[in-house]
Amino acid sequence: MKHSVSELTEVIRSRRTIYPKDFTERKVHKELVEKILNNALWAPNHGMTQPWRFKVYMGEALSALSNELSGIYERITPKEKFLQRKYDNNKNRPLQSSVVIAVSMEPGSNGLVPMIEEQAAVACAVQNMCLTATAYGLGSFWSSGKVVYSSELHDHLELSEKGRCLGLLYLG
Ligand SMILES: Cc1cc2nc3c(=O)[nH]c(=O)nc-3n(C[C@H](O)[C@H](O)[C@H](O)COP(=O)(O)O)c2cc1C
Repeated sequence: MKHSVSELTEVIRSRRTIYPKDFTERKVHKELVEKILNNALWAPNHGMTQPWRFKVYMGEALSALSNELSGIYERITPKEKFLQRKYDNNKNRPLQSSVVIAVSMEPGSNGLVPMIEEQAAVACAVQNMCLTATAYGLGSFWSSGKVVYSSELHDHLELSEKGRCLGLLYLG
């Protein structure tokens, strides 16, 4: 056999979501983040459109992200629907993480690949990242929600009109 199926199975099955509140103080170094991102790029994608876009937040950028996410939540949520728990999640999760990767999709320029396939390719890239994180003993959490899908975050990430943010990947 060319690969160890049992090791592969072990990594797949031991990837479980770990929420940022349960992360340790361990700092994830830049070299490791690069290895995680490099494996993301090996995801299948139709027509080599490579529709994934990643914005990495580390160090001081995490407090700016914390302010950005909690600020967006406050602005887009009607007063009667405001939940302190959700505000706190947006505020605290970046601060509890060593790295946050904003994961977005930008469709190929020729417009031939259906959007669902571009999004599926990005989802495969996220799974590659989560499995790589697991192999390095890191926790990961893929989060979405109203803030992630908001036009405010879309603009903050400088996405095109057809681009979509598909989630925030918290690592720690
Ligand atoms: C696209 C996507 C978006 C998600 N968004 C959230 C989210 O916003 N909040 C949340 O608690 N879980 C979210 N989840 C689920 C968790 O990331 C996680 O996969 C789920 O809790 C199952 O746990 P497991 O990863 O250990 O199997 C999302 C999952 C996917 C695939």
